[in-house]
Amino acid sequence: MKTKHSDKDKDVLKNLGRFIESQFKKSLHKVEEVFKDNKAADDKLFSYFKVFIDDKGVASVTPSSKYLVDRVLKAMDLKHNKIVVEYGAASGVMTRKILERLAPDGRIVSIELNEKLFESLRELTPDSRLHPYRGDVREVDRIARHYGLQAGGVDVIISGIPFAFLSHAGRHELLDKTAALLRPGGRFIAYQVTTHLIPILKDHFKHVDTQFEIRNIPPHFVFTAYK
Ligand SMILES: C[S@@+](CC[C@H](N)C(=O)[O-])C[C@H]1O[C@@H](n2cnc3c(N)ncnc32)[C@H](O)[C@@H]1O
Repeated sequence: MKTKHSDKDKDVLKNLGRFIESQFKKSLHKVEEVFKDNKAADDKLFSYFKVFIDDKGVASVTPSSKYLVDRVLKAMDLKHNKIVVEYGAASGVMTRKILERLAPDGRIVSIELNEKLFESLRELTPDSRLHPYRGDVREVDRIARHYGLQAGGVDVIISGIPFAFLSHAGRHELLDKTAALLRPGGRFIAYQVTTHLIPILKDHFKHVDTQFEIRNIPPHFVFTAYK
């Protein structure tokens, strides 16, 4: 069911959002205590949360859980795929695990927009297979060329970016660029909170598999789209 909001409703929602955000910022130290008391997270996790408060484009309060990471890794099939591009790598929770399994002659270009998260990504590891890049995935065609990756030359692209934040045209443009970079039979794997991407993926790819991982905050769908 589609919900239509009037301009008045939108203003109310916007003001409510601003109010919650201002209260959140004021109470950040309390949230920190909860994180620490529960031992549910270390300082790194809390830093991630703080980055989220400042930049909603990060779109997640915690990094992906090990269950979600494992699910994405399995879908990547790194035994047979070694040229990888990553959209929205953040501080590298997936990147680190990919490097553990990537072939010695493999490569991964990991793109991240947020400055603070990118700094952590860059410090991840001195590994010649990893190319961390600070920028916008909407320019992935140019970024890939910068690293000598040609159209049709990439095996797998994974993505944690919030597609919901892109315009309708922006989503199609990014998926056009994504499909063009992949080799025939290559795959695009997107982990997302909602299913809104499925029909759009079907416009650009031959076949789309859907999985669901509940052991993540929040639970995520994992879509694997084949070129
Ligand atoms: C939901 S987080 C996923 C982070 C990480 N890969 C993980 O699994 O925990 C999405 C990430 O995408 C980044 N991002 C959002 N839009 C982006 C864009 N247009 N270009 C590059 N990165 C973007 C955010 O800054 C954030 O780090």
